Amino acid sequence: MRVAAQHGKQESLFMANRSMKSNALHCIYLFFILLFILVPMASPLEAKVTKSEFGSTPDGTKVEIYTLEEGALKARIMTYGARLVSLEVPDRSGKPSDIVLGYESLAGYTADPKSYFGSIVGRYGNRIAHASFTLDGKVYHLPANDGTNTLHGGIKGFDKLVWHGREIPNGVELTLVSKDGDQGFPGTLTARVRYTLGAHALKIEYFATTDKDTVLNLTNHSYFNLAGEGHGDILNHQVMIPADRYTPVDASLIPTGELAPVAGTPLDFHNPTAIGARIDDNFEQMRLAGGYDHNYVLNGKTGVLQEAARVVEPTTGRILTVETTQPGLQFYSGNFLDGTLTGKHGHVYAKHAGFCLETQHFPDSPNHPKFPTTELKPGETYHSVTTFGFSTAP
Ligand code: GLA
Repeated sequence: MRVAAQHGKQESLFMANRSMKSNALHCIYLFFILLFILVPMASPLEAKVTKSEFGSTPDGTKVEIYTLEEGALKARIMTYGARLVSLEVPDRSGKPSDIVLGYESLAGYTADPKSYFGSIVGRYGNRIAHASFTLDGKVYHLPANDGTNTLHGGIKGFDKLVWHGREIPNGVELTLVSKDGDQGFPGTLTARVRYTLGAHALKIEYFATTDKDTVLNLTNHSYFNLAGEGHGDILNHQVMIPADRYTPVDASLIPTGELAPVAGTPLDFHNPTAIGARIDDNFEQMRLAGGYDHNYVLNGKTGVLQEAARVVEPTTGRILTVETTQPGLQFYSGNFLDGTLTGKHGHVYAKHAGFCLETQHFPDSPNHPKFPTTELKPGETYHSVTTFGFSTAP
Protein backbone atom coordinates (compact mmCIF):
# COMPACT_ATOMS: atom_id res chain seq x y z
CA MET A 1 0.00 0.00 0.00
CA ARG A 2 2.72 2.40 1.15
CA VAL A 3 4.70 1.48 -1.87
CA ALA A 4 1.69 2.02 -4.07
CA ALA A 5 0.90 5.37 -2.40
CA GLN A 6 4.49 6.48 -2.71
CA HIS A 7 4.44 5.38 -6.30
CA GLY A 8 1.23 7.35 -6.88
CA LYS A 9 2.79 10.42 -5.23
CA GLN A 10 5.88 10.12 -7.38
CA GLU A 11 3.71 9.77 -10.46
CA SER A 12 1.68 12.86 -9.61
CA LEU A 13 4.89 14.76 -8.90
CA PHE A 14 6.16 13.59 -12.26
CA MET A 15 2.90 14.64 -13.91
CA ALA A 16 3.01 18.05 -12.20
CA ASN A 17 6.59 18.43 -13.28
CA ARG A 18 5.66 17.52 -16.83
CA SER A 19 2.77 19.94 -16.95
CA MET A 20 5.01 22.70 -15.52
CA LYS A 21 7.51 21.95 -18.24
CA SER A 22 4.83 22.01 -20.93
CA ASN A 23 3.41 25.25 -19.47
CA ALA A 24 6.87 26.78 -19.67
CA LEU A 25 7.17 25.55 -23.25
CA HIS A 26 3.76 27.08 -24.05
CA CYS A 27 4.92 30.37 -22.56
CA ILE A 28 8.04 30.31 -24.70
CA TYR A 29 5.99 29.50 -27.82
CA LEU A 30 3.56 32.27 -26.99
CA PHE A 31 6.42 34.69 -26.43
CA PHE A 32 7.87 33.96 -29.86
CA ILE A 33 4.48 34.10 -31.58
CA LEU A 34 3.81 37.50 -30.01
CA LEU A 35 7.32 38.61 -30.96
CA PHE A 36 6.68 37.71 -34.60
CA ILE A 37 3.33 39.53 -34.59
CA LEU A 38 4.20 42.62 -32.57
CA VAL A 39 7.70 43.49 -33.76
CA PRO A 40 6.71 44.04 -37.41
CA MET A 41 3.68 46.04 -36.22
CA ALA A 42 5.83 48.31 -34.06
CA SER A 43 8.64 48.94 -36.55
CA PRO A 44 7.79 50.81 -39.80
CA LEU A 45 7.32 48.49 -42.77
CA GLU A 46 9.88 48.88 -45.49
CA ALA A 47 9.13 48.45 -49.17
CA LYS A 48 11.12 45.74 -50.90
CA VAL A 49 13.27 47.25 -53.66
CA THR A 50 14.93 45.23 -56.42
CA LYS A 51 16.84 46.33 -59.50
CA SER A 52 17.25 44.65 -62.90
CA GLU A 53 18.28 45.48 -66.46
CA PHE A 54 15.63 46.77 -68.88
CA GLY A 55 17.59 46.80 -72.13
CA SER A 56 19.46 49.59 -73.93
CA THR A 57 18.39 52.72 -75.77
CA PRO A 58 19.03 52.88 -79.56
CA ASP A 59 22.35 54.67 -78.80
CA GLY A 60 23.45 51.77 -76.57
CA THR A 61 22.90 53.31 -73.11
CA LYS A 62 21.90 50.69 -70.54
CA VAL A 63 18.56 51.19 -68.80
CA GLU A 64 17.65 49.77 -65.40
CA ILE A 65 14.29 49.12 -63.84
CA TYR A 66 13.51 49.21 -60.10
CA THR A 67 10.66 47.22 -58.61
CA LEU A 68 9.09 48.54 -55.41
CA GLU A 69 6.78 46.26 -53.43
CA GLU A 70 4.88 47.21 -50.32
CA GLY A 71 1.74 45.46 -49.04
CA ALA A 72 -0.59 44.98 -52.01
CA LEU A 73 1.09 47.69 -54.15
CA LYS A 74 3.83 47.14 -56.70
CA ALA A 75 5.49 49.87 -58.80
CA ARG A 76 8.18 49.61 -61.48
CA ILE A 77 10.27 52.65 -62.38
CA MET A 78 12.94 52.75 -65.06
CA THR A 79 15.89 55.06 -65.60
CA TYR A 80 14.83 56.04 -69.17
CA GLY A 81 12.79 59.19 -68.58
CA ALA A 82 12.55 58.28 -64.85
CA ARG A 83 9.28 56.66 -65.91
CA LEU A 84 6.68 54.84 -63.90
CA VAL A 85 6.35 51.72 -66.07
CA SER A 86 3.70 49.83 -64.11
CA LEU A 87 1.65 50.25 -60.96
CA GLU A 88 -0.28 47.31 -59.57
CA VAL A 89 -3.15 48.22 -57.26
CA PRO A 90 -5.86 45.93 -55.81
CA ASP A 91 -9.54 46.42 -56.60
CA ARG A 92 -12.32 46.16 -53.99
CA SER A 93 -12.02 42.35 -53.94
CA GLY A 94 -8.24 42.48 -53.57
CA LYS A 95 -7.50 41.59 -57.21
CA PRO A 96 -4.50 43.59 -58.48
CA SER A 97 -4.32 45.25 -61.92
CA ASP A 98 -1.73 47.44 -63.58
CA ILE A 99 -3.44 50.85 -63.71
CA VAL A 100 -0.97 52.87 -65.82
CA LEU A 101 -0.63 52.91 -69.60
CA GLY A 102 2.73 52.06 -71.16
CA TYR A 103 4.74 49.36 -72.86
CA GLU A 104 6.17 46.02 -71.84
CA SER A 105 9.62 46.73 -73.25
CA LEU A 106 11.98 49.71 -73.49
CA ALA A 107 11.69 49.69 -77.30
CA GLY A 108 8.02 50.70 -77.01
CA TYR A 109 8.98 53.79 -75.02
CA THR A 110 11.93 54.87 -77.16
CA ALA A 111 9.79 54.56 -80.31
CA ASP A 112 7.04 56.81 -78.91
CA PRO A 113 8.06 60.47 -78.75
CA LYS A 114 4.60 61.91 -78.14
CA SER A 115 2.67 60.29 -75.31
CA TYR A 116 5.16 60.73 -72.42
CA PHE A 117 3.75 57.59 -70.72
CA GLY A 118 4.80 57.57 -67.05
CA SER A 119 7.66 60.00 -67.55
CA ILE A 120 9.14 62.81 -65.53
CA VAL A 121 8.64 65.81 -67.74
CA GLY A 122 11.25 68.59 -67.77
CA ARG A 123 12.71 71.07 -67.87
CA TYR A 124 9.31 72.62 -68.42
CA GLY A 125 6.10 70.61 -68.13
CA ASN A 126 3.42 71.69 -70.63
CA ARG A 127 3.73 74.56 -73.13
CA ILE A 128 5.92 77.61 -73.52
CA ALA A 129 4.42 79.95 -76.12
CA HIS A 130 6.32 80.67 -79.32
CA ALA A 131 9.22 78.56 -78.02
CA SER A 132 10.77 81.48 -76.17
CA PHE A 133 10.81 83.41 -72.92
CA THR A 134 12.67 86.33 -71.38
CA LEU A 135 14.62 85.97 -68.14
CA ASP A 136 16.72 88.73 -66.54
CA GLY A 137 16.24 90.76 -69.74
CA LYS A 138 17.63 88.06 -72.03
CA VAL A 139 15.52 86.22 -74.61
CA TYR A 140 15.94 82.44 -74.68
CA HIS A 141 14.92 80.38 -77.71
CA LEU A 142 13.81 76.77 -77.34
CA PRO A 143 13.11 74.09 -79.94
CA ALA A 144 9.46 74.17 -81.08
CA ASN A 145 7.85 70.72 -80.99
CA ASP A 146 4.14 71.58 -80.82
CA GLY A 147 3.33 73.92 -83.68
CA THR A 148 5.26 77.08 -82.85
CA ASN A 149 5.33 76.26 -79.13
CA THR A 150 7.60 74.14 -76.91
CA LEU A 151 5.88 71.21 -75.21
CA HIS A 152 7.23 69.26 -72.22
CA GLY A 153 10.79 70.56 -72.34
CA GLY A 154 11.51 70.37 -76.07
CA ILE A 155 12.48 67.76 -78.62
CA LYS A 156 14.69 65.80 -76.23
CA GLY A 157 13.26 66.56 -72.81
CA PHE A 158 13.88 64.74 -69.54
CA ASP A 159 11.41 62.02 -70.58
CA LYS A 160 13.86 60.91 -73.29
CA LEU A 161 17.08 60.93 -71.24
CA VAL A 162 18.58 58.14 -69.14
CA TRP A 163 18.74 59.14 -65.48
CA HIS A 164 21.08 57.68 -62.88
CA GLY A 165 19.24 55.39 -60.46
CA ARG A 166 20.12 54.50 -56.89
CA GLU A 167 18.19 52.52 -54.30
CA ILE A 168 16.99 54.49 -51.26
CA PRO A 169 14.82 53.29 -48.33
CA ASN A 170 11.38 52.31 -49.75
CA GLY A 171 12.25 53.33 -53.28
CA VAL A 172 14.54 54.76 -55.89
CA GLU A 173 16.21 58.12 -56.43
CA LEU A 174 16.86 59.23 -60.02
CA THR A 175 19.34 61.96 -60.84
CA LEU A 176 19.87 63.88 -64.05
CA VAL A 177 22.38 66.60 -64.84
CA SER A 178 21.13 68.80 -67.68
CA LYS A 179 23.89 70.99 -69.11
CA ASP A 180 23.72 74.77 -69.51
CA GLY A 181 21.85 75.38 -72.78
CA ASP A 182 20.17 71.94 -72.88
CA GLN A 183 17.09 72.44 -75.14
CA GLY A 184 17.80 76.18 -74.93
CA PHE A 185 17.36 76.52 -71.14
CA PRO A 186 20.00 78.42 -69.15
CA GLY A 187 22.08 76.95 -66.30
CA THR A 188 23.42 73.52 -65.53
CA LEU A 189 20.55 71.93 -63.68
CA THR A 190 20.77 68.93 -61.35
CA ALA A 191 17.39 67.28 -60.90
CA ARG A 192 16.64 64.51 -58.41
CA VAL A 193 13.35 62.63 -58.27
CA ARG A 194 12.51 60.15 -55.53
CA TYR A 195 9.78 57.56 -55.96
CA THR A 196 8.90 55.79 -52.69
CA LEU A 197 6.15 53.28 -52.01
CA GLY A 198 4.10 53.02 -48.84
CA ALA A 199 1.35 50.51 -48.08
CA HIS A 200 -1.28 52.79 -49.63
CA ALA A 201 0.52 55.41 -51.70
CA LEU A 202 3.22 56.17 -54.22
CA LYS A 203 5.09 59.34 -53.36
CA ILE A 204 7.10 61.40 -55.86
CA GLU A 205 9.45 64.03 -54.48
CA TYR A 206 11.33 66.45 -56.70
CA PHE A 207 14.51 68.43 -55.98
CA ALA A 208 16.62 70.61 -58.29
CA THR A 209 19.46 73.10 -58.17
CA THR A 210 21.00 75.33 -60.83
CA ASP A 211 24.21 77.31 -61.34
CA LYS A 212 22.50 80.15 -63.31
CA ASP A 213 19.06 81.75 -63.12
CA THR A 214 16.64 79.49 -64.96
CA VAL A 215 13.00 78.35 -65.16
CA LEU A 216 11.74 74.92 -64.18
CA ASN A 217 8.48 72.96 -64.01
CA LEU A 218 8.78 69.23 -63.29
CA THR A 219 5.86 66.81 -63.28
CA ASN A 220 4.97 63.17 -63.79
CA HIS A 221 3.01 62.25 -66.90
CA SER A 222 1.39 58.92 -65.93
CA TYR A 223 -1.83 57.97 -67.68
CA PHE A 224 -4.21 56.16 -65.34
CA ASN A 225 -7.06 53.82 -66.06
CA LEU A 226 -8.34 52.64 -62.68
CA ALA A 227 -10.18 49.71 -64.29
CA GLY A 228 -6.76 48.50 -65.46
CA GLU A 229 -4.72 49.72 -68.46
CA GLY A 230 -6.28 48.60 -71.73
CA HIS A 231 -9.71 48.17 -70.11
CA GLY A 232 -11.65 50.56 -72.32
CA ASP A 233 -11.94 54.30 -71.83
CA ILE A 234 -11.96 56.37 -68.66
CA LEU A 235 -15.24 58.21 -69.35
CA ASN A 236 -17.09 56.50 -66.46
CA HIS A 237 -14.45 57.49 -63.88
CA GLN A 238 -15.89 59.92 -61.33
CA VAL A 239 -13.59 62.89 -60.82
CA MET A 240 -13.53 65.42 -58.00
CA ILE A 241 -11.18 68.42 -58.20
CA PRO A 242 -11.63 70.91 -55.35
CA ALA A 243 -10.40 73.94 -57.35
CA ASP A 244 -12.40 77.12 -57.95
CA ARG A 245 -10.46 78.40 -60.96
CA TYR A 246 -8.56 77.25 -64.03
CA THR A 247 -6.35 78.84 -66.67
CA PRO A 248 -8.35 79.06 -69.96
CA VAL A 249 -6.39 78.42 -73.16
CA ASP A 250 -6.33 79.67 -76.74
CA ALA A 251 -6.51 77.47 -79.84
CA SER A 252 -2.88 76.35 -79.42
CA LEU A 253 -3.53 75.43 -75.76
CA ILE A 254 -1.52 78.37 -74.43
CA PRO A 255 -3.06 80.07 -71.35
CA THR A 256 -4.72 83.40 -72.07
CA GLY A 257 -3.44 84.65 -68.69
CA GLU A 258 -6.87 84.74 -67.14
CA LEU A 259 -7.75 82.79 -63.96
CA ALA A 260 -11.38 81.95 -64.73
CA PRO A 261 -13.99 80.47 -62.38
CA VAL A 262 -14.98 76.85 -63.08
CA ALA A 263 -18.48 77.50 -61.71
CA GLY A 264 -21.18 76.90 -64.30
CA THR A 265 -18.79 75.22 -66.78
CA PRO A 266 -18.00 71.56 -67.65
CA LEU A 267 -14.71 72.14 -65.81
CA ASP A 268 -16.40 72.34 -62.42
CA PHE A 269 -15.53 69.11 -60.57
CA HIS A 270 -16.33 70.22 -57.02
CA ASN A 271 -18.96 67.48 -57.00
CA PRO A 272 -17.76 64.06 -58.21
CA THR A 273 -18.77 63.80 -61.89
CA ALA A 274 -18.07 61.25 -64.63
CA ILE A 275 -15.35 62.42 -67.03
CA GLY A 276 -17.66 61.64 -69.94
CA ALA A 277 -20.71 63.47 -68.58
CA ARG A 278 -19.86 66.89 -70.09
CA ILE A 279 -16.82 66.15 -72.26
CA ASP A 280 -18.70 66.85 -75.50
CA ASP A 281 -20.55 69.92 -74.19
CA ASN A 282 -20.70 72.85 -76.53
CA PHE A 283 -18.33 74.94 -74.43
CA GLU A 284 -15.46 76.67 -76.21
CA GLN A 285 -12.73 75.44 -73.84
CA MET A 286 -13.83 71.83 -74.32
CA ARG A 287 -13.89 72.24 -78.11
CA LEU A 288 -10.42 73.83 -78.20
CA ALA A 289 -8.84 71.00 -76.23
CA GLY A 290 -10.96 68.14 -77.62
CA GLY A 291 -11.87 67.23 -74.04
CA TYR A 292 -10.18 68.07 -70.75
CA ASP A 293 -6.64 69.41 -71.10
CA HIS A 294 -6.67 72.23 -68.59
CA ASN A 295 -4.65 73.54 -65.69
CA TYR A 296 -6.57 73.94 -62.44
CA VAL A 297 -5.53 76.64 -59.97
CA LEU A 298 -5.46 74.74 -56.70
CA ASN A 299 -7.16 76.52 -53.81
CA GLY A 300 -4.59 75.77 -51.09
CA LYS A 301 -1.25 77.28 -50.25
CA THR A 302 1.66 76.35 -52.56
CA GLY A 303 4.25 74.33 -50.65
CA VAL A 304 1.68 72.71 -48.37
CA LEU A 305 0.46 69.23 -49.25
CA GLN A 306 -3.22 69.50 -50.26
CA GLU A 307 -5.76 67.26 -51.93
CA ALA A 308 -5.77 68.09 -55.64
CA ALA A 309 -8.06 65.38 -57.02
CA ARG A 310 -9.94 62.24 -56.18
CA VAL A 311 -11.03 59.73 -58.81
CA VAL A 312 -13.35 56.75 -58.31
CA GLU A 313 -13.76 53.92 -60.81
CA PRO A 314 -17.21 52.45 -60.10
CA THR A 315 -16.82 48.92 -61.50
CA THR A 316 -13.62 48.00 -59.59
CA GLY A 317 -14.10 50.40 -56.67
CA ARG A 318 -10.55 51.71 -57.02
CA ILE A 319 -10.03 55.23 -55.70
CA LEU A 320 -7.05 57.43 -56.55
CA THR A 321 -6.35 60.44 -54.34
CA VAL A 322 -3.77 62.96 -55.51
CA GLU A 323 -2.11 65.30 -53.06
CA THR A 324 0.49 67.89 -53.96
CA THR A 325 2.47 70.91 -52.79
CA GLN A 326 2.25 72.40 -56.32
CA PRO A 327 -0.01 75.34 -57.27
CA GLY A 328 -1.55 73.68 -60.36
CA LEU A 329 -2.98 70.46 -61.73
CA GLN A 330 -3.24 69.60 -65.43
CA PHE A 331 -6.26 67.37 -65.95
CA TYR A 332 -5.83 65.71 -69.33
CA SER A 333 -8.39 63.19 -70.61
CA GLY A 334 -6.10 61.47 -73.14
CA ASN A 335 -7.58 63.38 -76.09
CA PHE A 336 -4.57 62.83 -78.36
CA LEU A 337 -4.58 59.05 -77.94
CA ASP A 338 -6.00 57.87 -81.24
CA GLY A 339 -5.65 54.09 -81.44
CA THR A 340 -2.28 54.20 -83.20
CA LEU A 341 -0.32 53.13 -80.09
CA THR A 342 -0.26 49.49 -79.05
CA GLY A 343 0.77 49.22 -75.43
CA LYS A 344 1.12 46.47 -72.86
CA HIS A 345 -0.30 43.01 -73.73
CA GLY A 346 -1.23 44.20 -77.23
CA HIS A 347 -3.73 46.72 -75.85
CA VAL A 348 -4.58 49.43 -78.36
CA TYR A 349 -4.85 52.80 -76.65
CA ALA A 350 -7.79 54.63 -78.21
CA LYS A 351 -8.98 58.16 -77.40
CA HIS A 352 -9.59 58.57 -73.62
CA ALA A 353 -7.88 55.22 -72.80
CA GLY A 354 -6.26 56.99 -69.84
CA PHE A 355 -6.25 60.28 -67.98
CA CYS A 356 -3.41 62.31 -66.48
CA LEU A 357 -3.31 64.38 -63.34
CA GLU A 358 -0.09 66.35 -63.74
CA THR A 359 0.75 68.34 -60.62
CA GLN A 360 2.66 71.38 -61.78
CA HIS A 361 3.19 75.12 -62.10
CA PHE A 362 0.95 76.78 -64.65
CA PRO A 363 1.74 76.31 -68.36
CA ASP A 364 3.71 79.12 -70.00
CA SER A 365 4.47 80.77 -66.64
CA PRO A 366 7.78 82.27 -67.88
CA ASN A 367 5.66 84.46 -70.21
CA HIS A 368 3.04 85.31 -67.56
CA PRO A 369 4.57 87.43 -64.78
CA LYS A 370 1.29 87.24 -62.82
CA PHE A 371 1.42 83.42 -62.57
CA PRO A 372 3.33 81.89 -59.62
CA THR A 373 6.99 82.14 -60.54
CA THR A 374 8.89 79.18 -62.01
CA GLU A 375 12.28 80.85 -61.65
CA LEU A 376 15.06 79.01 -59.89
CA LYS A 377 18.26 80.77 -58.85
CA PRO A 378 21.67 79.49 -57.79
CA GLY A 379 21.68 78.71 -54.06
CA GLU A 380 17.95 77.80 -54.05
CA THR A 381 16.57 74.26 -54.06
CA TYR A 382 13.44 73.47 -56.04
CA HIS A 383 11.32 71.08 -54.01
CA SER A 384 7.86 69.61 -54.51
CA VAL A 385 5.94 66.56 -53.35
CA THR A 386 3.06 64.68 -54.95
CA THR A 387 1.41 61.53 -53.61
CA PHE A 388 -0.89 59.13 -55.43
CA GLY A 389 -2.91 57.34 -52.74
CA PHE A 390 -5.02 54.21 -53.28
CA SER A 391 -8.10 52.88 -51.53
CA THR A 392 -11.35 51.21 -52.57
CA ALA A 393 -15.04 51.98 -52.33
CA PRO A 394 -17.47 49.16 -51.36
C1 GLA B 1 -0.10 67.21 -71.75
C2 GLA B 1 -0.66 68.28 -72.59
C3 GLA B 1 -1.49 67.71 -73.66
C4 GLA B 1 -0.71 66.69 -74.48
C5 GLA B 1 -0.13 65.65 -73.56
C6 GLA B 1 0.79 64.72 -74.27
O1 GLA B 1 -0.99 66.70 -70.91
O2 GLA B 1 -1.39 69.22 -71.86
O3 GLA B 1 -1.98 68.72 -74.49
O4 GLA B 1 0.29 67.34 -75.18
O5 GLA B 1 0.58 66.24 -72.53
O6 GLA B 1 0.22 64.15 -75.38
